[in-house]
Amino acid sequence: MPQWSTRRRRRGCAGCCSTPGTRPAGCRRALASPPTGSAPHLDGLIRLLLLGDPLPAAGLPSGAADDLVALALVRVRGADLVPLLEVRPYGEPDTDWYLVADLGTPVDAEHVLGAGGASLTLARITPRVPVDRALDLGCGSGVQVLHATRHARTIVATDTNARALRLTALSAALSGVPGDRIELRAGSLFAPVAGERFDLVVSNPPFVISPGRRFTYRDAGLSGDALTAQLVRQAAAHLAPGGRAAILGNWMHVVGEDWRERVGAWVAGTGVSAWIAQRDAEPVADYAAMWLRDAGVADGPALDAALQEWLVAFAALRCEAVGFGWVVLVAPGGAPGGVDGSRSAGGRQGVPWAHVEDLSWSQRLPSGDEVLAFLDGCARVEALPAPALLAARVVLAEGATITRTEVVSGGHASALPPRLGLAGAVGPGGWRPAVPTHPALLAALLGPATASVGAHVDAWAQAEGLDPIDVLGPVLTTLRELVRLGIVRTV
Ligand SMILES: C[S@@+](CC[C@H](N)C(=O)[O-])C[C@H]1O[C@@H](n2cnc3c(N)ncnc32)[C@H](O)[C@@H]1O
Repeated sequence: MPQWSTRRRRRGCAGCCSTPGTRPAGCRRALASPPTGSAPHLDGLIRLLLLGDPLPAAGLPSGAADDLVALALVRVRGADLVPLLEVRPYGEPDTDWYLVADLGTPVDAEHVLGAGGASLTLARITPRVPVDRALDLGCGSGVQVLHATRHARTIVATDTNARALRLTALSAALSGVPGDRIELRAGSLFAPVAGERFDLVVSNPPFVISPGRRFTYRDAGLSGDALTAQLVRQAAAHLAPGGRAAILGNWMHVVGEDWRERVGAWVAGTGVSAWIAQRDAEPVADYAAMWLRDAGVADGPALDAALQEWLVAFAALRCEAVGFGWVVLVAPGGAPGGVDGSRSAGGRQGVPWAHVEDLSWSQRLPSGDEVLAFLDGCARVEALPAPALLAARVVLAEGATITRTEVVSGGHASALPPRLGLAGAVGPGGWRPAVPTHPALLAALLGPATASVGAHVDAWAQAEGLDPIDVLGPVLTTLRELVRLGIVRTV
């Protein structure tokens, strides 16, 4: 399955692809010299259900073959069992989950994927606080459902593909999830949950922008990025007060249009706040080739012909590149049942905000907790207009880091602007680089917290013989970013 871009390929997946690479070689090697005392029938089950090898039915304990057939995981071919699905151990270090998905490269239109790069991206960035009701729209093999079982009391899982609903049920049952915590509903988008509201909505939908409708997991059959746009708008209308949504999507970069405005417009007027982050963007020719190869179209005349079809469709949409990323929504209002209200970041002042940014330079994905902290930071900044921010007293947060670097040129060392970070989160090892900070702001942050930022900046500018007005602009921009990232707190 494809990685997102050549740039990304060098430093790791952008988190968009359909299925992760399997590592059968390592598994076969381990099975070739099993540890003493290991049960041979377990090795056989691993070969059958993980590696997809046929297995003599006689190699399993009595009754096991019939159970596997009854679950439709395998079929009988002569004396052998032949796998129909893969059963893959999955999850977090302290879970014992299994994902049931279709085997191999997608051929059938209703192929159900296991956990892919996109699944893992969504699972990682989703805020994980206790909630009452969660919705996974487009559940596939049940990846997001399993994660949601850790913090949602009940989960509604929907899909248009009946096989996906069946495999989600199987994944949940094999993972020990009580049946009464998951409700499976068939249908498109929000139709199966019309009129209902949720504390958490997650969706890794069929976001690929393609001319046809080859695979249900990939193509929504809508024009351009209409699927992601619809999903985002409708999710906003299905959030309970204080509820959140985490949605993956693709969006078009239309000639002469700023993608930020395009995607930002999807949340305008919905009444919810939004953080929209683009993880990567790919020129349409590379994007089309990637998804065509993903679907097994071999290089050569077949790929050339199919590419033409995709490129003609992109040209008609005036689309020159496709962005991949996420939309995180926060509904205004109090905490939903059982949720820590202090973490609710939507519409604190009653005015929804939207923060749209490019994160393609980010070295790693934020965790759900980091997403929550960032949402809180965004809400804090939005609640503080410039005059209020300048009148505030500010301090560096616990764990803030200051990095000072000098660059040598022509035998002389000169200082770069100091960078402010937050241990483990912003800066080395973090999900964002440390923030270059104006010396006037650093002086304010390191000075006594008895004076306001504005007073500190005034004093610094006068000492340097500068007009404070010239300094305030860059200071404010950086200060807002530092508050957003939780590096600076107002007191
Ligand atoms: C990329 S897969 C994601 C599966 C899983 N949630 C994950 O994170 O790996 C997209 C899923 O959305 C389903 N789907 C496609 N069109 C849909 C629609 N209009 N409404 C709801 N689900 C849809 C597909 O059948 C597929 O299971």
